[in-house]
Amino acid sequence: MKVTKEKLKDLISTKLHKAGLTEEHANGVADVLVHADARGVHSHGAMRVEYYAERIAKGGINNKPNFKFEKTGPCTAVFDGDNGVGHVAAKLAMDEAIKMAKENGIAVVGVKKISHSGALSYFVGQAAHENLIGISVCQSDPMVVPFGGAEPYYGTNPIAFAAPGKDGDQITFDMATTVQAWGKVLHARSKNEPIPETWAVDSNGEPTTDPFKVNALLPIAGPKGYGLMMMVDVLSGILLGLPFGGKVSSMYHDLTEYRNLGQLHIVINPDFFTTLSAFQEGISTTMQDLNNIKPAPGYDKVYYPGQRSAERVKKYEENGIEIVDDIYEYLTSDVIHNNAYDHKNPFAE
Ligand code: NAI
Repeated sequence: MKVTKEKLKDLISTKLHKAGLTEEHANGVADVLVHADARGVHSHGAMRVEYYAERIAKGGINNKPNFKFEKTGPCTAVFDGDNGVGHVAAKLAMDEAIKMAKENGIAVVGVKKISHSGALSYFVGQAAHENLIGISVCQSDPMVVPFGGAEPYYGTNPIAFAAPGKDGDQITFDMATTVQAWGKVLHARSKNEPIPETWAVDSNGEPTTDPFKVNALLPIAGPKGYGLMMMVDVLSGILLGLPFGGKVSSMYHDLTEYRNLGQLHIVINPDFFTTLSAFQEGISTTMQDLNNIKPAPGYDKVYYPGQRSAERVKKYEENGIEIVDDIYEYLTSDVIHNNAYDHKNPFAE
């Protein structure tokens, strides 16, 4: 099913408003989800609406949060999301970080006590759109073994980066620190197909190719990815005085409870280090250089990070966004949620 971006945003926003969010917050979440679908990151798009709707309806997201922004130093601040929707809190916190970095050269803004905030490319894109460098990291629920471990401790703790080139060019890197998203394991289960042994481990901590035996995901690049997810948890959890590591709340554990998650935005103003035009020139040249690298056998070309997503956005603007039929049916139905997520064991789906 193909829908325009406007129609998809309207459907998502209407559903979340019916679930209990204010129109303003429902619109804010819809904007981030449609951004993800338009980039082809469907794992963080419309497919999440029913889960959010259930959590909102059950009180596990504060639908009338009292957001508080507190400047704690010339370049530092903390945004308290009061456990409202993470997408809106993270966006507003980035707006503030942008203002501070324009004035002071750099801003580090912690976003504390939020629910899931979706695809981080949205927030770093806000900074790049204002000719600034954006970096964002956040916590997510413990589903990943630390290197050498047999039990999950860290989340898929993503890292995102965006920088502006010339004439609206943008380079964007946005990844979970796990080899594969959990959604890919679910996909293999639905097709009864084996998974590569680099993705996940069983309950003994041994690599498994059986998607039904998965008990935790593996970090990217062994101890190095494990180190990165540790860094993300320190910056977006311990630094903000929030639960960290294995104590980070689970996505599905209890949908009536607030999640108290953390995120950290870092914004750098290139004009305080070189000139903005020299920086933009450098970014655009890098993008071009990468595209001009001779491709290895089996590859059609070298893409710069975020290029394929940017191409998808253009394509979807012309042809509409492809949405799974079941999700479209749910969005256009009167159902708020089907009680499908509460107390679900994430590994037993
Ligand atoms: P991915 O594996 O699809 O892409 C990772 C990065 O690699 C992207 O920047 C992409 O542009 C780049 N890339 C992919 N193929 C490429 C190619 N052929 N050439 C050059 N660059 C290429 O992303 P992943 O790890 O599946 O993450 C998906 C989303 O999930 C992200 O938006 C992330 O922020 C979000 N996420 C959010 C969480 C949360 O709790 N809020 C938790 C975990 C992930």
